[in-house]
Amino acid sequence: MDVHLTLGAVGERTDGIYRQLSAAIIEGRLAAGEALPPSRALAATLGVSRTTVAVAYDRLAAEGFTVTRRGAGTFVAEARASGQARRAPHGRTVTARPVWAGRTVPSTERAPAAFDFGIGIPDPALFPLAAWRRQVANELQLGSALLNGYAHPPGLPRLRAAIARHVGVSRSVRAGADDVIVTSGAQQAFDLATRVLVGPGDVIAVEEPGYPPVRSLFESLGATVVGVRVDEHGIVVSEIPPRARLVYTTPSHQFPTGVRTSLTRRLELLAWAETANAVIIEDDYDSEFHYGGGALDPLQSLDRAGRVLYVGTFSKTLVPGLRIGFLVAPESLHQPLAVAKRLSDWHTDTVTQGALARLLDEGIFAAHVRRANRVYAGRRERIIEGVERELSRWLDVVPSVAGLHLFAQLRADVPLRVTAVTDAAAAAGVGIQSIARFAHNEDSEQARRGFVLGYGAIEEASIDHGLRRLRDVLTRLT
Ligand SMILES: Cc1ncc(COP(=O)(O)O)c(C=O)c1O
Repeated sequence: MDVHLTLGAVGERTDGIYRQLSAAIIEGRLAAGEALPPSRALAATLGVSRTTVAVAYDRLAAEGFTVTRRGAGTFVAEARASGQARRAPHGRTVTARPVWAGRTVPSTERAPAAFDFGIGIPDPALFPLAAWRRQVANELQLGSALLNGYAHPPGLPRLRAAIARHVGVSRSVRAGADDVIVTSGAQQAFDLATRVLVGPGDVIAVEEPGYPPVRSLFESLGATVVGVRVDEHGIVVSEIPPRARLVYTTPSHQFPTGVRTSLTRRLELLAWAETANAVIIEDDYDSEFHYGGGALDPLQSLDRAGRVLYVGTFSKTLVPGLRIGFLVAPESLHQPLAVAKRLSDWHTDTVTQGALARLLDEGIFAAHVRRANRVYAGRRERIIEGVERELSRWLDVVPSVAGLHLFAQLRADVPLRVTAVTDAAAAAGVGIQSIARFAHNEDSEQARRGFVLGYGAIEEASIDHGLRRLRDVLTRLT
């Protein structure tokens, strides 16, 4: 590896090389076992004689910083290497704007519970790995988009066309290829849309309880965020502040309560947006998985005025690690959104885009979703039946018609806070999550009594056992 060294005055050069290399070893910038450059090569790079370098190397070896292996070179010795990770300088000189204070990144290293009813991730075992590997290999051919320099920011034309067809057929979204912008997950779609539409101090309405990363994003961009209650028909439109410039909503499967926004409420929301001159972001994050009960048209396809930005993601249908989502936007926003995408990350990785286009075009994606839907339907049914059989003394479950989780509530006559239940369940190896995590107002009825049961992570065969353990926990607590 090239080592960066600065040369001092003539006469101090050997000493300078020794000091800089020993410091790099002590501070962990050079790790145990790492090779130093051959003395001849380093001398040539620095424009000094080979002896100058060789004397410094001898001193390093004599003091145990390096070991020399004949014919192989000089290596950092185990004994003197710091073993510390390389760190930037400490200090509090540079600080972030106050809006970032207290915001933390959730850990991805949680130990899974023995019975994991966690939400947010699909079952990785269902991912069509062999097909994906084949499509990625196809994308790595000579002449592929990867080797063609920067790509067009809104996405590869064939992927935009494939997504437009996919959402047109599966969700009746009205979109041509030009209306689609490929993003790094749904999260980037929210970011681009907000930066294009909203300025500091503007009011954004979000559902309460709701999806925290979006609320936090809006706040970080300087917006004033107002939570709006969700009832059994969806977001309560009459409570949206009239000054709201933007409304973020999850009508197909409200996150986290699972409510599907009724048709009347959908039309009311669209009419409200018209009157208030506001824009709606429709987050349709997991409704490719559905379980009867009749899907309703998305706001995007009911909208006649071009006020809805429809956001989708492949995080649930495939896996979140791909970081691929999309935005369907009215024509008036095509150009600013394309520029915002370019300013953000230029474009989404072309190998992933190309492979996904192939998966969609060859019908592999649709077949995968149908198969996964059957698996999830079985798990969902099992949870609903199990809760009714084992847990109906304590819980009511809301059998929502889409997605990868169910919402449940402690019955009004159960004298427990839901967090006491989730803590005791965790100790018993049952992973369930309280709604309080997703509520800005932790004292609301939903936050105090509600929790979510996901079925992305748990196999059908483990569900009954997990619910019986939960029953034992509740019996003990009450
Ligand atoms: C409400 C909601 N929207 C969107 C997403 C997907 O986000 P992304 O595509 O950035 O992974 C999730 C994932 O958990 C979600 O819960």
